[in-house]
Amino acid sequence: MKDKKIFLCSNCGNEAYKWEGKCPSCQEWNTYIEQIVSKQTNTKATAWQDSKSEMNLPIPILDIKAGQTPRIPIKDNELARVLGGGIVPGSLTLIGGDPGIGKSTLMLQLALTCPLDILYVSGEESPHQIKMRADRIGIKNQKCQILSETDLKKIFGTIKKTEPQLLIIDSIQTISSPQVDSISGSVTQVRQCTADLQTFAKESNIPVIIIGHINKEGSIAGPKLLEHIVDTVLQFEGDRNHIYRILRSKKNRFGSTDEIGIYAMEAAGLREVENPSELFLSQSDENLSGSAVATTIEGLRPMLIETQALVSQAIYGNPQRSATGFDLRRMNMLLAVLEKRAGLYFGQNDAFLNIAGGIKVADTAIDLAVISALVSSLHDIPVNRKICFAGEVGLTGEVRAVNRIEQRIEEAARLGFEKIVISKYNNKAIMTKPKIELSYISKVEDLITLLFA
Ligand code: TYD
Ligand code: MG
Repeated sequence: MKDKKIFLCSNCGNEAYKWEGKCPSCQEWNTYIEQIVSKQTNTKATAWQDSKSEMNLPIPILDIKAGQTPRIPIKDNELARVLGGGIVPGSLTLIGGDPGIGKSTLMLQLALTCPLDILYVSGEESPHQIKMRADRIGIKNQKCQILSETDLKKIFGTIKKTEPQLLIIDSIQTISSPQVDSISGSVTQVRQCTADLQTFAKESNIPVIIIGHINKEGSIAGPKLLEHIVDTVLQFEGDRNHIYRILRSKKNRFGSTDEIGIYAMEAAGLREVENPSELFLSQSDENLSGSAVATTIEGLRPMLIETQALVSQAIYGNPQRSATGFDLRRMNMLLAVLEKRAGLYFGQNDAFLNIAGGIKVADTAIDLAVISALVSSLHDIPVNRKICFAGEVGLTGEVRAVNRIEQRIEEAARLGFEKIVISKYNNKAIMTKPKIELSYISKVEDLITLLFA
């Protein structure tokens, strides 16, 4: 019997019989790696032929009692919120994110603050290194056990002995199962280990959290592959040069995927941020041109953030356009709308846009604030700091209604703003009497008149 050679995509796990430059399944380049599988002739009967004696009685759906999923409460409110209320017994959760973003810190903090018996398995760091991190976090917990091990069989052996109530694996790419003949971090290893951990979690009812690295370069198996196996996928993201971190849920079999958790990475670990608006608004209270405040919604939470623009005369031939935290194409579109609908020309000017605090915003309700900041910088006239904005701008220059308008207004009022500029088409959605002045507009021209006339 000869061994067979196959090729596997390290990002999504697609199989091919020859090497491919671009994966036809996930469209990533250069992700195929060779894998040898030993060929065994299959003499077993198919499941259909073999199924005569096996039987499980189905249950009528009306007879199934569906209570609330039980949850293990945890101290970290942000994590609990993203998970949908706490850790579900027997669940398998994957936390993905770029190297150095703070995944190990988040998990160690969970291990240190949780009242359960926890086994924290690290294949990446020595117990000494983990202890140093724990000292930095500054919490002592007798119940947190550390194991430095990469062999899955030995890990399971330790579990049988110590019987933990929660298992954390840091990271899945460093763990290997002796059942599979390839190096740790390879597609087959990662897939096998995750599947084994899923079986373990379901059979023992012990929740498992695994950390997975995201690496586009490809030598490490991408967590895409794991997303199908696990129950919950959390994504830890942020800009490494800024302190803010956002925890999102990309898949959750036990809760909504709309919630997000916000943290600040500080000298003593991750701090939960309850009041995100206060972080993303700039600290100065001077009236400067080129700045406007947008009320956005991240997940289900309203958040006020500051947009900053700088429009200046272009010295070199082609004017520059750049946007940080905002889609550059959308900024170009907004500039074109201003040109066509409001007669404001940016053709001779460089235009830079920045969302303060290093956060990325996809909510289109930020459009009005972006336009206000750009025009404010162009005219060098400040926008009143007591005004904020929520509205999407369309190609014809119309200002469109946005979702959850009442929540946005409430947050603006709570933070002491006196006026919010919104689309006139939003007025039907406002049921309760707002605590701040509302200013309705329907076109971009109205905004320019309102602010700069
Ligand atoms: P880490 O949790 O090791 O990241 P990951 O496991 O995702 O690779 O944390 C990485 C960064 O966090 C590191 O550069 C240092 C910083 N950090 C702090 O700023 N404060 C702290 O208290 C800790 C523990 C880490
Ligand atoms: Mg780590």
